[in-house]
Amino acid sequence: MTTLRRAASVPGTRILGLGSAQPEQVVTNDDLSKTMDTNDTWIRERVGIVERRFAGEKDTVVSMAVEAGAKAIADAGLSPSDLDTVIVANCTTKSPIPNAAAQVAELLGIKAAGGFDLNAACAGFCYGLGVASDLVLSGSSKRTLVIGSEKLTDIVDPTDRSTAIIFADAAGAAVVGPSDEPRIGPVAWGTAGDLVEMIGMTERQHIYQEGQSVFRWATTKIAPIALKALDLAGLTPADVDVLVPHQANLRIVEAIAKKLRKEGAREDMVVADDIVYSGNTSSASIPMAMDHLRAAGKIHSGDVALLVGFGAGLSYAGQVVVCP
Ligand code: COA
Repeated sequence: MTTLRRAASVPGTRILGLGSAQPEQVVTNDDLSKTMDTNDTWIRERVGIVERRFAGEKDTVVSMAVEAGAKAIADAGLSPSDLDTVIVANCTTKSPIPNAAAQVAELLGIKAAGGFDLNAACAGFCYGLGVASDLVLSGSSKRTLVIGSEKLTDIVDPTDRSTAIIFADAAGAAVVGPSDEPRIGPVAWGTAGDLVEMIGMTERQHIYQEGQSVFRWATTKIAPIALKALDLAGLTPADVDVLVPHQANLRIVEAIAKKLRKEGAREDMVVADDIVYSGNTSSASIPMAMDHLRAAGKIHSGDVALLVGFGAGLSYAGQVVVCP
């Protein structure tokens, strides 16, 4: 039997840099109440959003990904030629081909990059980070840029108050590279395909969701996934400095944090609440929340962060990372 040479593996992986991008246009709850039957008090109380950003005509999944990706590469102190692979997690490109990753790589100047899109909806970034980490770990990639970028306003019915008040547009990115020790834990991922109908697309290509069912699922099933990710990394809830769940609804975020605190997470654990001023940006929400928390001085290099994404599929994924 012929034996083939395998790529030279590395002892661990880590996030080397982070970046994010948001469109300029700020949309308040009062703005939305002018076009649909809703109001600021209801949205703040039920979802926790104060304002969000909507893409302008020039903003696309690719343009926002390029901006976030360029910032992450600069933050890592690298240049495009130091990367060889680009993953763009998204579920909102207008057309499945050409993929976003090849365009993003070209626009960033990452020549001949391996590039592919990954669709696990709002869990996409954590899926992408898991794949990126494994690519680097195995030696298949030197350094990988993983981006979550979404223009949800392209698939939201602006008159549907159960979705139009929640979703928004943005991108978040991370550069993954080798490390002497593991600083990205194994991914805990899965799907609940039996619940596939809970979030989907209408015939008119608008996103729909069974809000209450999704809420119940997220507030009961996601904390155990986060605990599994901790276990896979050999840590306990008390080790977590910052919790960064997908920013779906502030009440879901708070419910996950409460469950983790019951399992031993500290009261002073920082809990990402980026949804308040960014809305639900699907696969962009986790890297962008990390980037914003760091900019606000709420997380620091070396902090243990627990990430957990969830969304249509229903899909979910989580892992522990040490903050860059
Ligand atoms: N503004 C004002 N009132 C609204 C409203 C809005 N945008 N949406 C619903 N309402 C009203 C309803 O008409 C209903 O009124 P009634 O009691 O007089 O009949 C009441 O508020 C409750 O409606 P309900 O649909 O039960 O609201 P809810 O509390 O479940 O909140 C969601 C709706 C969508 C915000 C909530 O279910 C949710 O966030 N679910 C999770 C969705 C999610 O996370 N999706 C992304 C996954 S990645």
